[in-house]
Amino acid sequence: MRIEQNPEFQIHLQKLQSKEPLFLETIYSVGNGHIGVRDSNPLQGNNPNYVGTPGLFVNGFYDYYPYKYGEKYPNYPENNQVINRLFDPRFIRIIVGDEDSAVDSFDVETVDKNLDMQTGMLHEIFAVTTPEGKIFNLIVQSFASLQELNVYGIRYGIVPVNFDDNVEIIKVHDYVNQATNQVANDVRVDDVKGNMQLDFIDDNGQPSYLITTYKSQQGLILTFQASEQMDYFKDDTNHWGYRTKYFAKKGTQKEFEFLFSIGDIHPLVNARMYADQYLSALNEKVRDTNFDSELMASAQVWQTFWLHSDVKIGGDPEVQLCIRFNLFSLNQSAGRNEMTTIPAKGLTGNGYGGHYFWDTEIFMLPFFTYTQPELAKKMLIYRYHTLDIALKQATQLGLKKGAWFAWQTINGYDASAYWPAGLAQVHINADIAFAIEQYYEVTGDDEFLSNYGYEIIVETARFFMEYGNYADIEGKRRFVIDRVTGPDEYSAVVDNNYFTNHMAKFNLRMVAKYAERFENTELSRKLNLSAEEIDKMTQAANDMYLPFDKEKNIKLQYQNFNQMAEVNLKNVDTSKFPMLLHFHPLMLYRTQVNKQADVIMSDILFPQGFDFEQLKSNYEFYEPITTHDSSLSKAMFAIAATRIHKDAEAYRFFSQAVQTDLQNSHHNTANGIHAGSLGAAWEGIFYGFAGVVNNAEYFTVNPRLPEQWNSLQFRFHLYDSEYRFTIYEHEIIVELLSGKGTKMKLAGSDYNITKEEPKQEIKY
Ligand code: BGC
Repeated sequence: MRIEQNPEFQIHLQKLQSKEPLFLETIYSVGNGHIGVRDSNPLQGNNPNYVGTPGLFVNGFYDYYPYKYGEKYPNYPENNQVINRLFDPRFIRIIVGDEDSAVDSFDVETVDKNLDMQTGMLHEIFAVTTPEGKIFNLIVQSFASLQELNVYGIRYGIVPVNFDDNVEIIKVHDYVNQATNQVANDVRVDDVKGNMQLDFIDDNGQPSYLITTYKSQQGLILTFQASEQMDYFKDDTNHWGYRTKYFAKKGTQKEFEFLFSIGDIHPLVNARMYADQYLSALNEKVRDTNFDSELMASAQVWQTFWLHSDVKIGGDPEVQLCIRFNLFSLNQSAGRNEMTTIPAKGLTGNGYGGHYFWDTEIFMLPFFTYTQPELAKKMLIYRYHTLDIALKQATQLGLKKGAWFAWQTINGYDASAYWPAGLAQVHINADIAFAIEQYYEVTGDDEFLSNYGYEIIVETARFFMEYGNYADIEGKRRFVIDRVTGPDEYSAVVDNNYFTNHMAKFNLRMVAKYAERFENTELSRKLNLSAEEIDKMTQAANDMYLPFDKEKNIKLQYQNFNQMAEVNLKNVDTSKFPMLLHFHPLMLYRTQVNKQADVIMSDILFPQGFDFEQLKSNYEFYEPITTHDSSLSKAMFAIAATRIHKDAEAYRFFSQAVQTDLQNSHHNTANGIHAGSLGAAWEGIFYGFAGVVNNAEYFTVNPRLPEQWNSLQFRFHLYDSEYRFTIYEHEIIVELLSGKGTKMKLAGSDYNITKEEPKQEIKY
């Protein structure tokens, strides 16, 4: 296979405005959902002379770190869970003459970097100068295989520029806890020092390790293989590795390649007990193969990804590149083993401890559900695997029934140290149910619904029945959900957050929607679900209180939101953003200032019954009081703006949102990508500019392209079919690519897309 180089799929260093080293480490990360490797100075290793934050992250591989509370109340989480930062597999030691990169400080200057998103390969050139002034070019190519998720490949090329001399290459990874010089003064960053243990497995013919965690009791095996010309050896400190020494000639390049095989995560006892067995399986993956063949196999999988998931935008090359980077990064981060999903920072850093949040279900999964449904399913199954913990958590916290999913977690247990902006975001329960329903609506996957989905829908609905209660409001019996935090984290522990109640209403209704098909089944017996319980849920959904301010004609963010102090954001000193880093939470909670889209989110997730004037009124009230300090916010406002025909604003918000990481617009991409924001940008295109609304009866498309764009093209799946849409200013072209087709409402009229008539050209 030969893949033509295409600059439209390349993140070339020259194209990036910022060249800040830690930002580049994130942008040039490579990953495959199992592992993520930050970019780095390859000579750094654990040497404190070099300052960077490198590391290898394995999805789901974490350790516990005790929380220290001033006042610890019952049931606060004892521990944080933080994804481990393992040694940098890019690290290499180079000795030129008698100068050693591990001892002396070599000057490493980046000449060029290019990430090819078609193949997933990162290509870099460094100019390295030794303290005595010997210069050589170091060329590094690396990738994380999408074909064989355990495999990571790296190839080094060395070209002396101004000398002939002995050069020795040593590749020994003799430490496992990657040190960084990170000092966090940001609540969103974890700078814990790792506690993993590294044990060499001897006599395997290639360096092999058992890596275990101290408290979480996990273990994984890791091994790596070198190209033939390197010698396997044991160093003075008994660490196995590879080395070779040769006489390097000016201008002549010599290459060395390595394939890592990074194992799956096991409970520690198993990892110890079956280490040999796991190791031989890992050896298999890198035996009789080489860098190029593994890269090609992986590139082929990338090709398939792009075939189904690419978004083509005509006339806006900057946005085009950003959206591709976003989709590429999402795919690099997506957990593929049903035991993991996507951390808020992908696998590019340990910001937010590497936790999974609602970001996955609400902002990232729609992209996968529509374009890579099999992958979406795997990530939803991860939630199912934490259902038992969520059930336990609900009872531990004092509820009689239902599942209380963690607000932020890796292993299923909640890890939020600050519950008002953490555990209190009970909307996570309905967010998961929402993503399940959406997956089902798109795929019609009955097996998933019966094996996993419905159980979660029922248990999350039970949660709301337990958490909420009835109260008299404005002369009516209402179902209320008090003391929750909605999406907006500048308001906490409020009563009847509009978004939460709307989501809960939906969640409760879902139980009845599917009840009949599960009547008298093993599942309903297991769930002990009676007609009476279902009726109560439906009644509560019907009686759900959704606060509304009649005078202002707005959906009210929460019950007494309009009593909070008003603040004119234009008067706030711009150096005080993001506000969470400058103000005590109570100063924010008492005001009408929003961090992110909240009420607007429910308009976006539930576009059925869309009311132009109502959305406009909500938008005009909430947008001016929103700081967009959360990167999840702008894309949502872009969708709302498109729907109410504020086209210039829609494009402005969207283009800012789509650039979150490539332009480092939140100034913290150094800590890792903003995976939720990247997914939200896809939603901005799909739900916003393409105007997709999918409800059980109809799939509708009502495009409204930004004037900057000539065309928009994307594919998606619906039931058994795949479609391609090409949208121009006044024309929609629909093509059925596979499957039976379906009825759709396109730009206001009905069409039947069928095998017989697989293509329609519609003027609008
Ligand atoms: C946002 C949350 C989000 C979290 C992780 C916070 O800043 O307010 O909505 O879930 O970041 O991305």
